[in-house]
Amino acid sequence: MSTELDLVIRNADVVTASDRFTCDIGVRDGRIAVLGHGLPRGAREMDATGLLALPGGVDGHCHLDQPMPDGMRMADDFFTGTRAAICGGTTTVIPFAAQEKGGSLEAAVADYHRRAEGRAVADYGFHLIVADPTPHVLKYELPELIRQGYTSFKVYMTYDDLKLSDREMLDVLDVAKQNNALVMVHAENADCISWLTEKLVGEGRISPRFHGLSRPAAVEREATHRAITFAELVDVPILIVHVSGKEAIEQIRWAQSRGLQILAETCPQYLYLTAEDMGLQGDDGYEGAKCVCSPPPRDPENQAAVWRALAGGVFSVFSSDHAPFNYDDPEGKKLGGQAQPFDHIPNGVPGIETRLPLLFDGIARGKLSLHQFVELTSYRPARLYGLYPRKGTIAVGADADITLWDPERRVRITNDALHHAVDYTPYEGIEVTGWPVHCFSRGEMLVENGKYLEPAPGRGQFLPAGAPSLV
Ligand code: URP
Ligand code: ZN
Ligand code: ZN
Repeated sequence: MSTELDLVIRNADVVTASDRFTCDIGVRDGRIAVLGHGLPRGAREMDATGLLALPGGVDGHCHLDQPMPDGMRMADDFFTGTRAAICGGTTTVIPFAAQEKGGSLEAAVADYHRRAEGRAVADYGFHLIVADPTPHVLKYELPELIRQGYTSFKVYMTYDDLKLSDREMLDVLDVAKQNNALVMVHAENADCISWLTEKLVGEGRISPRFHGLSRPAAVEREATHRAITFAELVDVPILIVHVSGKEAIEQIRWAQSRGLQILAETCPQYLYLTAEDMGLQGDDGYEGAKCVCSPPPRDPENQAAVWRALAGGVFSVFSSDHAPFNYDDPEGKKLGGQAQPFDHIPNGVPGIETRLPLLFDGIARGKLSLHQFVELTSYRPARLYGLYPRKGTIAVGADADITLWDPERRVRITNDALHHAVDYTPYEGIEVTGWPVHCFSRGEMLVENGKYLEPAPGRGQFLPAGAPSLV
């Protein structure tokens, strides 16, 4: 066996969730073999002087090629979605294998593997979506899948095709407790939303901006509190995903202060978008459909609260919730080829490539530290989703998933320059400071000076997850 290093990254300013040091990084067989000074020449050399070396990002919440109802189709599959992830500094993604009501979870997982194989360029794990917790699913399928490395699953308190009753939520949480898995909760009150929606639509208030009015903060607050109550009753940790603002944050902080293990996630849309991006008052145009997601973006005060909660430790993870629907597409936001009433617009915004730069920009603005950035975007998601220490850090033995950042580079985000297959970005025109200029996955350089090097589709590996680590 050759002892030569395959790659040496010289003079790297390495930043992990807890440490910062300058050294050379030696890579062999896809893993970090040595961290030190004056390493011997490697087969490939990279000078990182002036750049930051961060662990590759782990995006613990994104949707790729997820089967959809009602003629909708996601624009990104595993190839285009992971290509975009890599170009944004993310080397591991965890999308969702979604059970259909009446269908089996095992079938959903098998189907999802078929969609990923031969397509992914980044490494990937799967969360499950449990939409139909039958006695068979609860007793056999779910425990067996957890054993096989699917240790996290999402449940919905809204959306007719996905939502669980309170009783079903308790059953699923109990399976998580018995089998040491993590439940991710989409917390919005379904009945309140359908009641408000019927009223708005009945009054002819159907343009995209009314989406926000159909899902006010109280609807998210109530469901967040209810989910916390379920977790307390079952005595199991949960993760509340895509938290949009201060009302839900207050519930989470309250639970955390009582010693409950309530974890939380937020996403770029709650830092950079507001309800006005879905349309100003009196504006009945359709462009706002681009920013329709759930929970909806709120107002600047809520954005500020989310930034504060990120710095203050309320959130464990920062994910994209990349939900890639084209705007001008009969399978996307213009479903069936035309403007839709807000309640028929596919929900979600793209963001797998812009997630990291948008948060990184907050460092220069004093919103969070570099260590917090790594913790929220790589270290904690790797731990929570059972991938640490292979992913989420720069350490001997870890996969050589390394992103080299130019912390000074200023970039104006434009969709033309992105690598997803979506025909817009909600962040068009926003200027950020800091950009991931080079990206390595298992020691293979996939992005050089911002240029995607077109690695072979299918190089991405499936990562069976271990048990969740909550801290
Ligand atoms: O609007 C959103 N968030 N769409 C994606 C699906 C989900 O609920 O995460
Ligand atoms: Zn959700
Ligand atoms: Zn989502």
